[in-house]
Amino acid sequence: MSMEESMIKSEEIKALKEQKDVVILAHYYVEGNVQEIADFVGDSYALAKKATEVCQQNILFCGVRFMGESAKLLNPHKHVYMADLDADCFMAHMITPGQVEKVKREHPDAAVVCYVNSTAEIKAMSDVCVTSSNAVRVVRGMKEKEIFFIPDNHLAHFVADALPEKTFIYHHGFCPVHQNITGEDIRNAKKEHPGAKVLAHPECPKDVLKESDFIGSTSEIISYATEGAEKEYIIATETGVFYELEKKNPDKIFYQVIQEQVCLNMKKVTLDKVYDVLKNLENKEELILPDAMMEKAKKPLEKMLILAK
Ligand code: 13P
Ligand code: SF4
Repeated sequence: MSMEESMIKSEEIKALKEQKDVVILAHYYVEGNVQEIADFVGDSYALAKKATEVCQQNILFCGVRFMGESAKLLNPHKHVYMADLDADCFMAHMITPGQVEKVKREHPDAAVVCYVNSTAEIKAMSDVCVTSSNAVRVVRGMKEKEIFFIPDNHLAHFVADALPEKTFIYHHGFCPVHQNITGEDIRNAKKEHPGAKVLAHPECPKDVLKESDFIGSTSEIISYATEGAEKEYIIATETGVFYELEKKNPDKIFYQVIQEQVCLNMKKVTLDKVYDVLKNLENKEELILPDAMMEKAKKPLEKMLILAK
């Protein structure tokens, strides 16, 4: 899409969302032109929280399915639409209800701590949800000593390292995008850009985190680089964050670690699809979850919002 077409579409989107009482929430990993037309852009925690504060009756979510599901669970009476209903998170499907049940049976005293990158079905079996920005704080606040952390093993190890007073049961889930980055990739990037600070998402493997100067959620990475005095940063997370990083910091330089740090599902969200959903909202499929599942799955999310305060 040319710059001019993109601008025309953005203007139409603005008019449509007002006319149809829609708020657009977007994650930092979607394309820059989608972030630009969103009413709010954030990390998973900020988006979940924001979804509870908006006044519009319709939420159009630009991100992957679990993010839209969280918005729906926290706002059962609002209508939630996805820019692309097929945009899903690989990690969310790396654990099954049977696997959770088995560990619960074997460890009846363990709290099930569920990363938001999970299905509503798995959330419904969990005690509390966490995101990358609040996982340490939330788990620290849990009364249980034993923690079954699902589905991401890298985030689980990151939290476990920060909380030696707890014992952890791990699952083998991972994000293919972050898992792709290795410690050696970081060392090579540092050799190429010796003055640059390394900022990494906690979904990265341990050997990447060991080489990093800062570990945080997408929002935290953006804030760190924006507030930092250094001019150059190596960014170990999905490339969508570069849009906000560069917008906020035109005088700084940001480097990818590898070419492949791209979430193909996040990239399914396009300006054309946002426009199409808005234009044909009345005929679009809403994100719907079974009532019984909603009732159970919203509890760990609500608990997260309380514990993360
Ligand atoms: P954040 O909550 O840090 O934005 O991360 C979401 C995500 O999907 C990371 O891969
Ligand atoms: Fe899921 Fe990884 Fe994409 Fe994040 S980057 S949405 S964890 S697949």
